[in-house]
Amino acid sequence: MLFTVRFMRRQDIPQVTEIDREAFPNEWPPTNFARELVNKLAYYVVAYETQQADPKPANKPALEGGTSGFLNRLQNLFSRRQTPQDTSSEKEPQILGYAGMWIMADEAHITSIASNKNQRHQGIGEGLLICLIEMAMKYQARIVTLEVRVSNQTAQNLYYKFGFDNLGNRKGYYLDNKEDAVIMSTEYIGSPSFREKFRQAKQAHYKKWGVTSNETMAKASGRA
Ligand SMILES: CC(C)(COP(=O)(O)OP(=O)(O)OC[C@H]1O[C@@H](n2cnc3c(N)ncnc32)[C@H](O)[C@@H]1OP(=O)(O)O)[C@@H](O)C(=O)NCCC(=O)NCCS
Repeated sequence: MLFTVRFMRRQDIPQVTEIDREAFPNEWPPTNFARELVNKLAYYVVAYETQQADPKPANKPALEGGTSGFLNRLQNLFSRRQTPQDTSSEKEPQILGYAGMWIMADEAHITSIASNKNQRHQGIGEGLLICLIEMAMKYQARIVTLEVRVSNQTAQNLYYKFGFDNLGNRKGYYLDNKEDAVIMSTEYIGSPSFREKFRQAKQAHYKKWGVTSNETMAKASGRA
């Protein structure tokens, strides 16, 4: 399945709220997405399915360095012209997942990431995480951090894949059941070692799932 990641919009809120409530039924209060969309520190993105013709066949590895640079700009241009949500009269596309991050000084903190329950393990979570890390790099954060429930091995696997380390636990962090949180962080994301590991993880994702178009990079400059 090919999908595009773009910044969240107000009209996505009903679908995103549904995914959020299903993914985090016990978290209270629920995320106020309307407020997050006007929060200058917050960056929220959604993934939605696209049928776009890809310049490369989906099962072919991406070029060295992923889709950055000229090819990426071409893809963004192409996908933006084709995406139906650009025309307000057309039906909203189905949202497959969403993710959010706050960038405070030199730290990018992931607040949430979730994919639609019926579409998990199809590369969407990774596609969203790749996009967040790319944005963190773009905005010159030094590290990306997050908290995750100790019992949430699925999510921890995802983060380990992208070079996050376990820095220890925050006792009783989750209010619903007093579960501990694992604190996770990347190393300095500008370091050659992180960049190389990230490039390889991204390339493996592209090889497995096809190229994820990332519209946020083209639009990010307007948000700085
Ligand atoms: C965590 C979550 C976002 C992953 O999304 P996804 O779309 O299924 O993720 P992907 O398909 O991109 O999988 C990426 C990696 O996550 C891990 N993963 C995903 N599903 C898994 C499962 N059922 N069991 C173990 N690991 C799993 C694996 O490391 C996987 O890589 P692999 O394909 O090489 O095995 C999704 O399970 C989810 O929405 N969970 C509920 C919300 C949540 O817990 N969010 C995290 C809060 S910190």
